Amino acid sequence: MTRPSISVVGSVNLDFVATAATLPAPGETVTGAILARHPGGKGANQALAAQRLGASVRLFARVGDDAMADEALALLGAGGVDLTGVARDPNAPTGVALIAVSQAGENQIVVASGANGAFAPDTLAPLPAGALICQLEVPLTTVEAAVAQSQGFVCLNLAPAADIPEALLQRADLIVVNETEAAFYGENLHRARGLVAVTLGARGAELRRGGELLASAKPPSVQVVDTTGAGDTFVAALTVALLEDQALGDALTFACAAGALATTRAGAQPSLPLRSEVEAIL
Ligand code: RIB
Repeated sequence: MTRPSISVVGSVNLDFVATAATLPAPGETVTGAILARHPGGKGANQALAAQRLGASVRLFARVGDDAMADEALALLGAGGVDLTGVARDPNAPTGVALIAVSQAGENQIVVASGANGAFAPDTLAPLPAGALICQLEVPLTTVEAAVAQSQGFVCLNLAPAADIPEALLQRADLIVVNETEAAFYGENLHRARGLVAVTLGARGAELRRGGELLASAKPPSVQVVDTTGAGDTFVAALTVALLEDQALGDALTFACAAGALATTRAGAQPSLPLRSEVEAIL
């Protein structure tokens, strides 16, 4: 089988994760949390997830010229992701995500975009041939520039939810959203030309085109520790499986299993599963 070649244009963050008994309500303070820091960012997570699942991945991103960047890029480098498309911005810090995780594994995330927000389209290097994955944690103009360059399969993870131009909806071969994002985009998702995957947490995922249900899948039962990065794993896994020409139902099952495995360990990138782990649980 040919190894899929994927460019990921997106964010890199350093995640500061406070794990507490419960998540705070607005205005509430929760004490007694344990703090950890892990590499994260939707773009970086999806890049490393795809690489661990068997693709050859190059990441295009911006980090600050600071020590946090080294920490944020460490697992990507160790995992074999090509980082020649990652530039250091002398004027903005590395992106940071403040993440609260409850004992039930649920999370709340606040992102300080830093260099991700300053990733201008005119600084995007030429993309190599192959597939493209983008999310919405970098400027929309940069996503548009990447998609305009791409001649291959395009996956758009429309997260965090934002207004996007119709042209992007029509260019994407695959759109991935969670239930909250699906509610935000509403009927627009039915107008998309390509496949639309909606993740449903522990209930699995559905794959549609033009509103018509094509496949649904359930994840294996796992002990949830931290859901951070599970959606990113699903995006990467579904893209890899479709690029491998797996049947739609098989591809969705593969992506659900990979996403479920990512919930069984703490942190975004430390939890991303290897291909062998996904195949073992299927
Ligand atoms: O999708 C999870 C990611 O969202 C975290 O790693 C955090 O950095 C935020 O970008």
